[in-house]
Amino acid sequence: RERSFIMVKPDGVHRGLVGDIIKRFEQRGYKLVGIKVIVPSRELAAKHYAEHDGKPFFPKLVDFLSSGAVVAMVFEGKDVVKTGRTMIGATNPLASAPGTIRGDFGIDMGRNIIHGSDSVDSAMREIALWFKADELADYEPVATPWLYE
Ligand code: GTP
Ligand code: MG
Repeated sequence: RERSFIMVKPDGVHRGLVGDIIKRFEQRGYKLVGIKVIVPSRELAAKHYAEHDGKPFFPKLVDFLSSGAVVAMVFEGKDVVKTGRTMIGATNPLASAPGTIRGDFGIDMGRNIIHGSDSVDSAMREIALWFKADELADYEPVATPWLYE
């Protein structure tokens, strides 16, 4: 099944939003297969956001992501990349609908709490960047037949 890389950024960790964010993905039915708390190096942050290298906001973005602890996660399930983005909301929290993570918790673009992969290809790249293969758990939740027909 499809996987997405979901990460609570330093602002979300400082603000104590980790539990709520995990709860939303769990309640939706997505399976947590990887999780770690780390302070990313500037190098890792720059690699993660490589698509934005050269843009005016890139240096600030890298500084911010590497400024504190993040919670890096991999969730698995049907359409998790697209649904994850819907649950997260728009890049600008002020443009995010209430009920989304950014729409419920954020104000500024540079403090938008959470990252989610924007495509299946990005997800594969990001998961390989942040996790080793043996850090991802292979298991089948007993709830699976109660989530999928
Ligand atoms: P991520 O899930 O973090 O990748 O956000 P996103 O996919 O919604 O947005 P995108 O990948 O385009 O941008 C990555 C991050 O850069 C965003 O989450 C913002 O924090 C920041 N960012 C994007 N565009 C701008 C911008 O125009 N100005 C500023 N200051 N920051 C931006
Ligand atoms: Mg993005």
